[in-house]
Amino acid sequence: MYRIVKKEVLAPSLKLFVIDAPLVARKARAGQFVILRIREEGERIPLTIADFDREKGTITCVFQEVGKTTRELGLLEEGESIKDFAGPLGVPSHIEKYGRVACIGGGVGVAPVFPIARALKEAGNEITGIIGARTGELLFWEDRMRQVCDELLVATDDGSYGRKGFVTDLLKEAIEEKGNFALCLAIGPLPMMRAVCDLTRNYSIKTVVSLNPVMVDGTGMCGCCRVTVGGETRFVCVDGPEFDGHQVDFAEMARRSVIYRPQELLALERHGG
Ligand code: FES
Repeated sequence: MYRIVKKEVLAPSLKLFVIDAPLVARKARAGQFVILRIREEGERIPLTIADFDREKGTITCVFQEVGKTTRELGLLEEGESIKDFAGPLGVPSHIEKYGRVACIGGGVGVAPVFPIARALKEAGNEITGIIGARTGELLFWEDRMRQVCDELLVATDDGSYGRKGFVTDLLKEAIEEKGNFALCLAIGPLPMMRAVCDLTRNYSIKTVVSLNPVMVDGTGMCGCCRVTVGGETRFVCVDGPEFDGHQVDFAEMARRSVIYRPQELLALERHGG
């Protein structure tokens, strides 16, 4: 069992857990994820690693309550435990000195962007952080991002905090004011990552996205997480989660992401959602 040593409510449907998982923490690297099950008969869900502390043996995850399992997870309190917590899974982020790098996080995507931005900063890159959310209430970790970014730009869709607009508006301005980035990393909702890729393609900026499809086994056997990248089928759990955003078939991903919507809604209804 994996104990929740800390719980923070970042926004009404946005929770942070620090979980006691020393073996996972020992090997965790930026860009990787875990698959957890709340109890024996529970659904498996992937969560990206938002932070890790090797000395304390803990992993930090941030999640949004969007379905039955994440809502159930959000009801757990400090001191309670999770049945399975498998990881670290996936290929770690490729970290090297690129030069000027844009690290973009949308919504809950700010959490996995943070450790990657930190690692890129430690490797000597100049980091422009760009974070955004629908509204100011849903923005989190501005303070943490400021610690690892040379500059941080903030936007909300409704203008309730930071600039009114989308992260792509800020990215476009940053490129036009100060020139091209050597690399762009974008993590967030599919439409956001797609919009970032459409923009950076015009400027020929290499762009990495981290995908988060439905997963089952997390070991490349079930095929549930398949995506098409550069015309080839790839499995996000073992080949990803990061891919060249300009090669990802986002239209197919969007179609596949709603395949189980009827079952998800039914599960939520039965759960009292
Ligand atoms: Fe089964 Fe990736 S989750 S192949």
